[in-house]
Amino acid sequence: MSAQLHIVDHPVIQHKLTFMRRKDTPTQLFRALLEEVSMLLAYEVTRDLPVVHETIETPLMSMQAPILEGKKLALVAVLRAGLGMVDGMLKILPSARVGHVGLYRDEETLQAVEYYFNLPEGVENRLLLIVDPMLATGGSAVAAVRRIKETNPGSMKFVCLLAAPEGIRYFQEQHPDVPIYTAAVDESLNEQGFILPGLGDAGDRLFGT
Ligand code: PRP
Repeated sequence: MSAQLHIVDHPVIQHKLTFMRRKDTPTQLFRALLEEVSMLLAYEVTRDLPVVHETIETPLMSMQAPILEGKKLALVAVLRAGLGMVDGMLKILPSARVGHVGLYRDEETLQAVEYYFNLPEGVENRLLLIVDPMLATGGSAVAAVRRIKETNPGSMKFVCLLAAPEGIRYFQEQHPDVPIYTAAVDESLNEQGFILPGLGDAGDRLFGT
């Protein structure tokens, strides 16, 4: 496994993911579970954030206590399905800014087409967490990160729920400098570019379309 691929196989995440995969899980529950899993992923993705120490007073004495270094964070949701990960992550990272990249996957060519792009100010000094539940062919993620790189961000991590081996390979080929965090790596893709066994179309399941 590449050092740039992190599989967050925590049993609580795996349990929730199983319920998301089940075809009889309704939209409301799917949405709630995606939020919960995203919160847990945010915890793992930020494990290596640097801390600095400052002097504080406890009720008993003073001490040098750690706080997160001033590095600013931003979440960047790949629309639409990435929206489903933002609220959960904001629970852990309440002061993060949020950007949006609108991409849809042309169902015939499987190519990503951009329709919206808006990032917070000062990306040069931020760690950007790019969020999209699915890394299938990798086309959307590769295009999103390529477009974001044009703005010269401080650093990036790509965070998803499910990844296919094909998408991981393609992403790592194109963006070897950007680590991938995923809750699971599935078996393969079908001819339509859906992850197998997967969970279906995350956007449709999230929004009930
Ligand atoms: C899905 C998913 C990813 C993309 C993954 O989005 O949310 O963005 O496909 O596929 P890829 O790795 O092959 O590019 P979709 O295009 O269905 O748009 P949506 O989020 O608006 O539903």
